[in-house]
Amino acid sequence: MWHDYAYWTNLVKIRGSKLMNKLYIGLAGSILSLSLLTAASAADPKPEDAVRYRQSVYTVIGWHFKPIGAMMKGEIPFDAAAVARHAQYVEMMSKTAIAGFPKGSGPDAVKDTEAKPEIWTHWDQFEAKMNDFQEAAIKLTEVAKGGDQAAIKAQFGKTAETCKACHKEFRTD
Ligand code: HEC
Repeated sequence: MWHDYAYWTNLVKIRGSKLMNKLYIGLAGSILSLSLLTAASAADPKPEDAVRYRQSVYTVIGWHFKPIGAMMKGEIPFDAAAVARHAQYVEMMSKTAIAGFPKGSGPDAVKDTEAKPEIWTHWDQFEAKMNDFQEAAIKLTEVAKGGDQAAIKAQFGKTAETCKACHKEFRTD
């Protein structure tokens, strides 16, 4: 049987076709993952959506940061529990703010933004400023939970400095 030419060619054919099947499955898989990739890029945020997202994040930050400041200045009564609650929101937003700055969402793509183009040309510095802010915000939540007004005031001041530091360089007035 082993010397039967037809047997061997048949075997080779069968093996060949199995191999082809594998190749086809592999190919189908790559096409599938390619289309998934395309789907992912179709889901990339539009520049104007990114701007809306980051402005919303900063609106929430401002909303919760301001009343802490007002308490520190004595404009409204000090309330440790309220400070802790506000600080938690600031902390949470500080962790996601960077997601609102995808490449291509600068002022050349979107009119209604105060983000400077330097954000993307000096990304490492921008990211560092964001990290400073995040660290300060995390600390503020910790200190706020302690309820010590003087300590909260000091940490609030440090956090506010990180807002200013970034706005000065990366936000138009
Ligand atoms: C690492 C940089 C960075 C840090 C830190 C930062 N900001 Fe901003 N902020 C920006 C940029 C950039 C914009 C402009 C966004 C835009 O218009 O696209 C902005 C915008 C804002 C706005 C206006 C939002 C709107 O509706 O247009 C407020 C309010 C604000 N920031 C408050 C704060 C406060 C309060 C802090 C600190 C507790 C802070 N920011 C920390 C970069 C920063």
